[in-house]
Amino acid sequence: MTILNAINEAVEYIKSQSSLTLDLGIICGTGLGPIAEEITEAVSIPYSDIPHFQSGSVKGHKNRLVIGKLGGKNVAAFQGRFHFYEGYSIEKVTFPVRVIAALGVQSLVVTNAAGGLNHNFAVGDIMLIEDHINFMFQNPLIGKNHEELGPRFPDMSQPYAKEQISKVEKICLENGIKVQKGTYIAVTGPSYETRAELRFFSRVGDAVGMSTVPEVIAAKHNGIKNVLGLSVITNMATGTDTHEECHNAVVEAANQATPKVVKLVKQYIKEI
Ligand code: HPA
Repeated sequence: MTILNAINEAVEYIKSQSSLTLDLGIICGTGLGPIAEEITEAVSIPYSDIPHFQSGSVKGHKNRLVIGKLGGKNVAAFQGRFHFYEGYSIEKVTFPVRVIAALGVQSLVVTNAAGGLNHNFAVGDIMLIEDHINFMFQNPLIGKNHEELGPRFPDMSQPYAKEQISKVEKICLENGIKVQKGTYIAVTGPSYETRAELRFFSRVGDAVGMSTVPEVIAAKHNGIKNVLGLSVITNMATGTDTHEECHNAVVEAANQATPKVVKLVKQYIKEI
């Protein structure tokens, strides 16, 4: 079974469950699943029903695809993502992006929970991802390239579309939502960073997390035009606090920020 066949089978199954022509995909990060609860006329498809999908294992993730209406558009939201640290191959981690691209989507919102490296950030802030650094040292494009999906050497000079960032900044200004901008550093986890790693990362980035970058690489490879990345700063990763009990705090802080993220995402969807 090639990846192309696997994508086709997943696409066919999803199309058999919903006939909507999709405008946008959303990947809900840890604690941000409630974004998908806002979708109306929703059809929910458990990952376990979709061919070649995994079921996911992270607390706070529902593991289903929700298709319906949000902000006046047809959207598909992945309520739960696959992390590399769960033991999934990088191909499996990015499979949902391959599927959403094959469903014809040109806009993707990728959200995550991240630790704040930038001292000017506070827990609960939303950071617009302007750029990323791949400290996972994994790339979903390694191996045979399928020209049907995208080019061998895709450009990565602007993975997060500038116009979309400006659009979201304007929306935040108009709606009184505080927003930060910065560089997201992706690590594999699952162990949190040492103090020395945080000192190092804080020189080159603003937030650190364990996801998003493989998905964004796959999205760019697939030619998805509008990739918007949003991090919710769920804890400060500045080396002054420990990461003991951090995952619960991450989920809690992300949940608290959800209404703000939902408002922002809804408004953004209206304007694309
Ligand atoms: N480090 C890595 N990943 C994370 C963090 C963190 O501090 N917070 C949320 N995801």
